Amino acid sequence: MAKIKKAYFCQNCGFESAKWLGKCPSCGEWNSFIEEVVSKSSSNTAVVGFDNVKARPQKIDEISLEEQQRVSLASGEMDRLLGGGLVPGSMVLIGGEPGIGKSTLSLQIALKQPLLKTLYVSGEESAQQIKLRADRLGSNGSNCYILAETLLENILVHARETAPQLIVIDSIQTIYTERVESSPGSVSQIRECAVMLLRYAKETGTPVFVIGHITKDGGIAGPKVLEHIVDVVLQFEGDNNHIYRILRAIKNRFGSTSEIGIFEMQGNGLREVSNPSEILVTHHDEALSGVSVAAMIDGMRPFLIEIQALVSTAAYGTPQRSATGFDARRMNMLLAVLEKRAGFRLAVKDVFLNIAGGIRVADPAIDLAVVSAILSSSLDMAIPTDYCFAAEVGLSGEIRPINRINQRIIEAEKLGFKRIFISKYNQKGLELNKRKIEAIMVGKIEELMWKLFGKGK
Ligand code: TYD
Ligand code: MG
Repeated sequence: MAKIKKAYFCQNCGFESAKWLGKCPSCGEWNSFIEEVVSKSSSNTAVVGFDNVKARPQKIDEISLEEQQRVSLASGEMDRLLGGGLVPGSMVLIGGEPGIGKSTLSLQIALKQPLLKTLYVSGEESAQQIKLRADRLGSNGSNCYILAETLLENILVHARETAPQLIVIDSIQTIYTERVESSPGSVSQIRECAVMLLRYAKETGTPVFVIGHITKDGGIAGPKVLEHIVDVVLQFEGDNNHIYRILRAIKNRFGSTSEIGIFEMQGNGLREVSNPSEILVTHHDEALSGVSVAAMIDGMRPFLIEIQALVSTAAYGTPQRSATGFDARRMNMLLAVLEKRAGFRLAVKDVFLNIAGGIRVADPAIDLAVVSAILSSSLDMAIPTDYCFAAEVGLSGEIRPINRINQRIIEAEKLGFKRIFISKYNQKGLELNKRKIEAIMVGKIEELMWKLFGKGK
């Protein structure tokens, strides 16, 4: 009888070792090794080889792009995110936390294809459950086939029979292949299944969407190799308590990774949000203190977002600081700058900061809006509702220039803002001639205080 070969795999990066290790020498993760059974055949198949693709070296000029016709997914956001539609034979990984809406999104994609025959394979739900969800999403879905199956060999047989033009696998962690003996969701299973699916995709030219769960620390569960194997990695993010979801391209072999798609989770599925500014800025009748609006850019898209700050006297010795959607360390830095430059005794104040819509912002251009919201709350003076801000704040209180200022100004003007505060060092390439919006240049925090609230100087 053949001896069963066992090996230890790092569950984080897929590193293989003959013996158990406390720390992975490859990715540095502690306590991540788990014993898995590896059968003989699997070691060879882990190498991607496309048997029936008779490739030969070609001159680059002679390669025609005709086969690269992209397939539209009948969804503006998805097409843009993928760089103008799906490339035939590509494999797309959608990652996200549990309950964020990965199954909803992918079923919706599979259902709403008027021109494509799609196959939705679920290893998590029964066909009836999927039907219930499909009814909830309210689509006819006559071109969509449903398969509740976890054995990959069976899935591939059905795929070859049905010959769909798009396959969705929900999720890679629940399917398994008989070639590998370890349990579904283990590193060797995930890797083997992904490679087999990839081979199917490349051989038949069928695009495959694969759903992947996310671990506690935010990585796609299973090995990093999964991210290397697939062509596109999309991350579905958002706060479960809010309705907005952001789909972000973090790897894309056929397009840009700076694209994002915004969706709104509704009772009947996900709705595309083509104009995010309109929902992220609440239109108050009267100006409220502690509220400001930033012209930010995420990915390639400019949009305006509301920032709220509350500054109050600290009830206890140590003041409380809390930031939602914004880096807390950056907020502390901005507070220190304000303390030094604007003379605020913020050390005895509690400061709470909140970004509307449960969206996380990493764009430094919202600094000026954050500072203005804090000042506004602290002084209890409202900022007029038609003002917005776009600049970074430096450690010495200088207002720093940011990129793509014109795009932000155009977006702000489109939404009816009358004044935008920007850095006075941002004038290079600034186009204001045809603009109705007035750009107020500020160079320092002190100047902002003066121009915004008439204080200081
Ligand atoms: P789901 O797609 O099952 O998440 P995942 O596959 O990422 O684990 O979505 C789960 C949540 O979405 C669930 O809490 C219910 C909500 N939901 C809606 O709000 N509207 C809908 O139309 C659907 C289908 C789900
Ligand atoms: Mg799911």
